[in-house]
Amino acid sequence: MKKLWGARFKRNSDKLADQLTFSISTDYRLAKYDCLGSMAHARMLGKQRIIPKMDAQTIVAGLSKILLQIQSGKFKVDPEAEDVHTNIQNALKNLIGPPADKLHTARSRNDQVVLDVKLYCRYEVGAIILAAAGLQQSIVQFAKKNTGTIIPGYTHLQQAQVVLLGHHMLAYVEMLERDKQRLSDCLKRLDVLPLGSCALAGTSLKTDRKYLAKLLRFSAVSPNSMDAVSDRDFIAEVIFDCAMMAVHISRICEDLILWASREFHFVDIDWAMCTGSSIMPQKKNPDVLELLRGSTAKMIAHVTEILTLPKGLPLTYNRDLQLDKPPLFDAVDTSKMGLQLLAKVFAGLKVHKQQVAASLTDESFYCVDAMEYLIRKGVSYREAHDILGAMVKDCLDQGKKITALTTNELKAYAPQFAEDVKNLFNPQMSVKIKNSFGSTNPGLVARQMDIWSKKLHA
Ligand code: ARG
Repeated sequence: MKKLWGARFKRNSDKLADQLTFSISTDYRLAKYDCLGSMAHARMLGKQRIIPKMDAQTIVAGLSKILLQIQSGKFKVDPEAEDVHTNIQNALKNLIGPPADKLHTARSRNDQVVLDVKLYCRYEVGAIILAAAGLQQSIVQFAKKNTGTIIPGYTHLQQAQVVLLGHHMLAYVEMLERDKQRLSDCLKRLDVLPLGSCALAGTSLKTDRKYLAKLLRFSAVSPNSMDAVSDRDFIAEVIFDCAMMAVHISRICEDLILWASREFHFVDIDWAMCTGSSIMPQKKNPDVLELLRGSTAKMIAHVTEILTLPKGLPLTYNRDLQLDKPPLFDAVDTSKMGLQLLAKVFAGLKVHKQQVAASLTDESFYCVDAMEYLIRKGVSYREAHDILGAMVKDCLDQGKKITALTTNELKAYAPQFAEDVKNLFNPQMSVKIKNSFGSTNPGLVARQMDIWSKKLHA
């Protein structure tokens, strides 16, 4: 197969070297964007009379046909072609003949490939943001189905204070919202057209890069050709943003895996999202969640890879940069898959309400509420902490409930205690008396739920 650069070469390339250098098996997924970029480029060349207008039209018509073939899956991927750019260039030549030879005027694969990847990222980042919104919706729906359910809240994985299940769920929604914001933010820096930078130095031909930017919907044109062909920051940003989101997904999975265990037994994961054991017939394992958690490892590795790749590279383009695509493509695929699957998990998730309620019997959950009761009566924070500490210790030692103490016994700990302090020792009251903005107060959580429902619906 003829290489785009074959003329100067004295010998055919080594077959093993081809195996290393060829990227068609990976970068074919850029085919659609390669066509779109080339169509704009041909139109610009024609408008500027760098090539005859007729040739430009023939090129655009040929590329449209190829684009249709790509979209319908009918395009013949040529494993003998070095990369996607070569493959499409050759296909165009077969289709329209000599005018195809003029397409590569005032362009190099160095600026072409950055353009293709930017177009790919722009589309895929949009798709990931949508998928993340889909997961947020699914979480909000799950939370709404379980309004009023109170669960233990944990710090250090030790029971701490009670919270609304909805509050816990909206924490996930907030995490995902930051992920969406980060992703849309990275699109801003991506929004600079690299095409027309050529190999590294620009061109002496009279191109119109602003026109190209308009056709391809970029807000700006890269002001430095050397930077434009070397820049892979935008890929690193997309991968980091995906990895950050994967860490969030992993934490959500971890909560659900714990909650589905026999020890917690708070939730039941749909059978469709679990697998069995080949030896233990009784098992129902949360493998989907485990694999989503596990795949975060490789997402983190992709960040390391994309940062290490250009770290020692001299300006400008070096072939090393071809290796930016596997981690990017995998980060995109893994993100979309994770978001979609987790949305399905929440859609099928059932709460064992009785079990959850049964987990709230320990009165230690309400210590802070009782402390704040004393603080309202003028006791200092430190003193209140000591008083409650002593009460809990004695009750635990004697196997007693705080609510079983008589008023006199209570007053022995602090004269400010009255019988009404016992009203605080239940989950409903505990969430109800919280009132700081952002707290687990049912009214405030309902309000947040409403805000999210509207926002995600829009
Ligand atoms: N396949 C190459 C890549 O992905 C395209 C650019 C090739 N440029 C070159 N000068 N060999 O980076």
